[in-house]
Amino acid sequence: MIVVYTEKSQVLASRTAKALGCKISEVKYTTFPDGEQYVQILEDDDQMVVVASTVDAESTMQAILLLDACEGKDTTLVLPYMGYARQDKKFNEGEPISARAMARALSSGADRIFTVNIHESTVLSHFRCPAKNLTLAPEIGAYIRTMNLENPLILSPDEGAWEFAKGIASVGKWECDHLDKTRLSGSEVVMAPKHLEAKGRDCIIVDDIIATGGSMAKAAGMLMEQGATSVRAAGVHGVFASGGYVKLMAAGLADIASSDTIERAASKFTASGIIADAVRK
Ligand code: R5P
Repeated sequence: MIVVYTEKSQVLASRTAKALGCKISEVKYTTFPDGEQYVQILEDDDQMVVVASTVDAESTMQAILLLDACEGKDTTLVLPYMGYARQDKKFNEGEPISARAMARALSSGADRIFTVNIHESTVLSHFRCPAKNLTLAPEIGAYIRTMNLENPLILSPDEGAWEFAKGIASVGKWECDHLDKTRLSGSEVVMAPKHLEAKGRDCIIVDDIIATGGSMAKAAGMLMEQGATSVRAAGVHGVFASGGYVKLMAAGLADIASSDTIERAASKFTASGIIADAVRK
């Protein structure tokens, strides 16, 4: 088995290969004068694992090209972060279901697909091969445990992420609650007032994606107003769009952590273990 990677997933791919105890092949990336991309896998095997977070158009294209280069092999595609997954339905007439378009494009050449905390599990049905979603809840729980906090409160910004938050909280049998977020636009959210048992406690807000940081910042503000001792943020996918990281720092968060599904300075826990376990099975 050989692991290959898109350029922006090389750290996670290396960690996954190490966890699997298999080789990672170098991949040559260049761009033609007209801007088109070129990839070449330098070492292959009958079984290939493509680790490819589709964080931008370039990475998506690299994933498509790598899958084609693996034609004829048993190929596992790992999409640690799947871009466009949030447009999982037509919100207005004339719109695409972007998650479906991505799933269809990325299915070609893959025998099986693993995603990590995909925004909406219904997206899995759009892949044209077996697809399974993995969760980093245990790893985030383990990360929180390293903080040695006494009686922390785990919170999700909305009810949608509550199950995920409960999975994290179960690691340390911590208390868990949710806030009530309403999204007004891609960059604007409002939080309904809610009394939380936050006074004098260390709170950790958890979510699948930290995009602009708006949800976490709003939640942090509410918790601080209610007397929280400290507020921290832990998300699976650290997108940090439009200065999201700075927004969270400015909101006074004591720690901002994400995983290496998107490789960032804030990546403090890895998805390689759960990916390796799934691929091995
Ligand atoms: C969306 O519903 C996701 O679960 C996240 O809550 C969302 O992506 C966070 O976005 P932002 O950081 O821009 O508030």
